[in-house]
Amino acid sequence: MTENIIPHSHAITQQDRIKKLGYKPQLIWFVGLSGSGKSTLASALEEKLFAEGINTYILDGDNIRSGLNKDLDFSDDSRKENIRRIAEVSKLFVDAGIVVLTAFITPFEDERNKIKALIGVENYTEIFVNCPLEECEKRDVKGLYAKARRGEIKNFTGIDSPFEEPKNADLNIPSHQLSIEEGVQRIYDLVKTKIEVG
Ligand code: PPS
Repeated sequence: MTENIIPHSHAITQQDRIKKLGYKPQLIWFVGLSGSGKSTLASALEEKLFAEGINTYILDGDNIRSGLNKDLDFSDDSRKENIRRIAEVSKLFVDAGIVVLTAFITPFEDERNKIKALIGVENYTEIFVNCPLEECEKRDVKGLYAKARRGEIKNFTGIDSPFEEPKNADLNIPSHQLSIEEGVQRIYDLVKTKIEVG
């Protein structure tokens, strides 16, 4: 499908943008079960970065699965396509000079490796929001685990759809053992080292 597509090289480079911004754009990808705290941590981190004048943007289920990806369900293939599109969108945002924070379950290791390859190791930080299934299910903020147990939702992650634990995450956040502030501080400390201009 990409036959006869010849990319144009534009005059403004990523280095030009970094010089102007004073930080290196980055994709901060939160991985974890439903209810593990991905969105909460992403949101709190965004506030902290934004307050420092960094251009940030959150991609999560609300703005993606109800818009760009509303044609996708929760089959394995749809989840892979969901992640592929989000990674491509994130790459554009990162190219544009934004620190992007994403909150998606991202259940498959292969897909996570593909994101890293697409964005580049330098520009990618993977955070495993490591909350055990039992704890997520106990919290059940949205009541979805109960529905899945009753068989009212099919292919629910952790119940009848797989979640492969990340092997190569840059940071592991045991969100059931830390306060939000503690979790955010750990992520912030790492992210700062990755976005600062040397
Ligand atoms: S994935 O696997 O990365 O494509 O999933 P994602 O786009 O992050 O969507 C997960 C959110 O959708 C809700 N939801 C489900 N999750 C898992 N399995 C099934 N079957 C399902 N159906 C709906 C759920 O609220 C997830 O939100 P979070 O924020 O993760 O709790």
